[in-house]
Amino acid sequence: MAKFIVEKSGPLHGTVEISGSKNAVLPILAATLLTEERCIIKDVPGLRDVDVMCDLLTALGATVEKDLYNNRVEVESPGEIHYEAPFDLVKKMRASILVLGALLLRTGRAVIHLPGGCAIGERPIELHLKGLKALGATIDEEQLAKGIVDAKADELHGATIYLDFPSVGATEVIIMAASLAKGTTVLENAAQEPEIVDLANYLNKMGAKIKGAGTDTIKIEGVEKLKSVSHHVIPDRIEAGTFMVCAAITKGDILIKNMVPSHLKAVIAKLRECGVDIETTEDGVRVRGNLNPLVSTDVKTLPYPGFPTDMQSPFMALLTVAKGPSVVIETVFENRFMHVAEFNRMGAGIRTEGKCAIIPGDKQLKGAPVIATDLRAGAAVVLIGLVAEGQTEVSQIYHIDRGYEKFVDKLKALGANITRVDD
Ligand code: EPU
Repeated sequence: MAKFIVEKSGPLHGTVEISGSKNAVLPILAATLLTEERCIIKDVPGLRDVDVMCDLLTALGATVEKDLYNNRVEVESPGEIHYEAPFDLVKKMRASILVLGALLLRTGRAVIHLPGGCAIGERPIELHLKGLKALGATIDEEQLAKGIVDAKADELHGATIYLDFPSVGATEVIIMAASLAKGTTVLENAAQEPEIVDLANYLNKMGAKIKGAGTDTIKIEGVEKLKSVSHHVIPDRIEAGTFMVCAAITKGDILIKNMVPSHLKAVIAKLRECGVDIETTEDGVRVRGNLNPLVSTDVKTLPYPGFPTDMQSPFMALLTVAKGPSVVIETVFENRFMHVAEFNRMGAGIRTEGKCAIIPGDKQLKGAPVIATDLRAGAAVVLIGLVAEGQTEVSQIYHIDRGYEKFVDKLKALGANITRVDD
């Protein structure tokens, strides 16, 4: 199994360029199936999850030309496509569910074997299915009880849909399905993440009529057909946030290029509360952790524009060394404190109680063998490893490969002492 060996590093300095967004590109790639014409997607990050989505599109019958050296993927599916997503791909990546709407529209049927819960929570999809039902799909309830989504629809029609929770995935699936449904769909309590806006922009370029993406009410007027398009994916806000924490925790000075500060308002506000200096310049965002002492703050994760759950573990890494105690409340996923056991192995002394973690702070951490329990938790243990005494050995790094392009190269270029050991 591959590992990262991280040694205590001094302050990180230099420039880092943020890659295209994983969570924007996955729905966009799924949406290429909504047209038979060729779609060109640019700024695609070279990630394991992107590989899985490309394999899924291929398995469904699309032709995928992947040139991740140049961060470019072209997809075309002029012929018939299959209605069943292979389980060996779906189990590798939950986001495979994003093809649901396109399969229904193209084939009248969609069959997807659901993987069980994952490390961070149960991750049900009843909201996706509620939306599709409102648009006219029928779901085989007996199959669903066995963990198989078998949806059918001769035609989809517009509807008013209220989401009980602003689920990112449900919002994306419903927008895609409603784009080619007959009539108008109004989606209320929709997710407002920048990735939703990017998907809507992409679909609108294809000819869809979507208004209100980025607010809690999205209106989609169904169109007859979507067409060929070329699209640049937005920068990855969670990768950018991770490098901001990197500058802060190592008391470094990093210029972050290709980052959209307005996508990270909550993270920037919290970093400033901790004493981190953040300045937007013409060249990018300069983050300095070396100007003020690092102090604690409390954090509560929420759907966008609240503090992102995906930044919870990297931010908690910072709080372990900040002066003073902090409380972190995780409200989005029910089991996203797996990294706490790993942090504690390094001396963080964190206690959890349900949705709350209490971080004493001000700890001098010690390197230890730790596990990347999920993608973001993996990045978080690497960040702690940069400031812990001695050596930190991070295993199960395939999680990190899912979502951080060239993580080791980018860290090394900033002066981090990190190596990848491939077994
Ligand atoms: N939920 C339900 N029912 C549903 C759908 C969601 O209860 O039908 C719950 C989930 O169980 C979870 C919460 O709602 O507790 C949020 O789920 P959501 O559907 O919003 O998340 P997602 O679409 O599955 C995306 C990102 C995640 C990110 C979340 C929240 C992608 C591919 N994944 O997941 O990214 O954490 O939104 O922002 O876009 C990551 O990149 O590390 C990652 C996990």
